[in-house]
Amino acid sequence: MAQEDCGHGDACGKAILFGEHFVVHGGRALAVPLPHLRTSVRVARGVGAADDVRVVAELDDVEPVARTVRRAAELLGLPGPWAVESRSEVPLGCGLGSSASFAVALVRGLCALAGRPASADEVSGFAWELEKIAHGTPSGVDNTVIAHERGICFVRGATPVPLRCGAPLHLVVADSGRRHPTAEAVGRVHAIAARDPEGFAATLAAAEVLVSRALFAFEAGDAPAVGRAMDENHALLASVDVSSPLLDRLVAAARAAGALGAKLTGAGVGGSVIALCAPPDAEAVRAALLEAGARAAFATTVGEDRP
Ligand code: PMV
Repeated sequence: MAQEDCGHGDACGKAILFGEHFVVHGGRALAVPLPHLRTSVRVARGVGAADDVRVVAELDDVEPVARTVRRAAELLGLPGPWAVESRSEVPLGCGLGSSASFAVALVRGLCALAGRPASADEVSGFAWELEKIAHGTPSGVDNTVIAHERGICFVRGATPVPLRCGAPLHLVVADSGRRHPTAEAVGRVHAIAARDPEGFAATLAAAEVLVSRALFAFEAGDAPAVGRAMDENHALLASVDVSSPLLDRLVAAARAAGALGAKLTGAGVGGSVIALCAPPDAEAVRAALLEAGARAAFATTVGEDRP
């Protein structure tokens, strides 16, 4: 296939419903795409030296993006210079997969420009390498759910299993307004695991039991049971030090306003919370989250994967 002048790539955001952090330690995670939050990347040949990258993006610091582009070009064997334009609806550093969404969109854009077909697995693999630049040793759940753009049950190193959702789930996603580096949050959990290996093994086992229950409820379309499991998952995450008074306040406010369950999502400490709602309660839950200090909140439906 001939090379084009420019390539476009596009990718969704994601929410981890269950198992974040524990997935780093070999547990399962259930994650879903957020298809209406998108990152769009346009790549074109630039001018200058082979490693020159010009970035246009609404960011204070574009250097991490340039680094990611250089690494992607190296992985794909496509020497620069490159000019990259990125627009994203995925809020940055909120636990909704902004970096993986950019990585997947970028790989797709470069592959499109080079006329190189790439399967979702290949795109995911390249994006995982790019995720390592910012996150050290990511489990791979973010790049996998985003590259496949469907709900998955994920274990690191294994083929992801598609989630079969019994009924769509109505979520309110709220941004706490606090940013916190994923790597630091992951480090907190590693520190606890190192300090108290037996206690941590028990927590990990409890998380696994919870994922089994959640998976069963999810596939049965039993939203109240999914909600209860979300509450318990939040408590487990708090026990490994990745919640915060603000996140605890947000999940409590969502539950008090009628949510079936609520938890932090993603790396935590800052970032986002998700609340599962019956549709008539979604607006009250959204309002309660904003009232309790969320910077922004939106309602969305997950589990409507294409067949
Ligand atoms: O907040 P995010 O989107 O970076 O999600 C991180 C998910 C973790 O489980 C905490 C880390 C990982 O590598 O899986």
